[in-house]
Amino acid sequence: MRNMTDDHTHVQEFFTVRAADWDSRFPSDGPTFAAAVADLGLRRGDRVLDAGCGTGRALPPLRAAVGASGVVLGADLTPAMLKAAVRAGRNRDGRLLLADVAALPLRSGSLDAVFAAGLIAHLPHPEKNLRELVRVVRPGGMLALFHPIGRAALAARQGRQITPGDLRAEANLGPLLHRSGWTMTSYVDEDARFLALAVRTRED
Ligand SMILES: C[S@@+](CC[C@H](N)C(=O)[O-])C[C@H]1O[C@@H](n2cnc3c(N)ncnc32)[C@H](O)[C@@H]1O
Repeated sequence: MRNMTDDHTHVQEFFTVRAADWDSRFPSDGPTFAAAVADLGLRRGDRVLDAGCGTGRALPPLRAAVGASGVVLGADLTPAMLKAAVRAGRNRDGRLLLADVAALPLRSGSLDAVFAAGLIAHLPHPEKNLRELVRVVRPGGMLALFHPIGRAALAARQGRQITPGDLRAEANLGPLLHRSGWTMTSYVDEDARFLALAVRTRED
């Protein structure tokens, strides 16, 4: 990829050193990913993108949900994370793209849904970047913003406090999604998971 920005370099440096042992750091997350994918309500034959797919932990449940006739894509900016996905065999469940989710090489309206785990905190321009995800989803298509740990539990693990300005606080996320062309339809923030679902707002 040409014209790397400082934001890209920072993300790549951060995740490159974590790629090799990413999955072994979180060995029991599988069922939480599967439950989040189930809540997205995919159907057989659907086309879905895992945005910021990392090592591809969501790809097997996404493939199971859309079946062999569906399309599963995983996009990530960090080559080392995608290499780890290949080593884990996750490229059997979805096609991996080395791509910035802020400028996706996908046609407008070409997807039924986007799943994004642990991504939003890394986006340099969340409102603009979430608008790119709207672009690639058909009207009525879905977005899942997921994390396999809730905000409070994550803050405690990282030894910090949640601030009122936290992007993922319900009072901030709903309006942010709205400004980006999404309508938030559900919000769960409990210790074992964070999951916000949204639908592409219809343009009347
Ligand atoms: C916290 S990790 C989550 C990985 C994976 N979704 C998971 O839950 O295991 C965030 C991932 O997002 C990727 N990422 C961050 N910003 C991105 C961007 N603008 N475009 C594509 N990928 C990005 C990083 O490279 C990293 O792999």
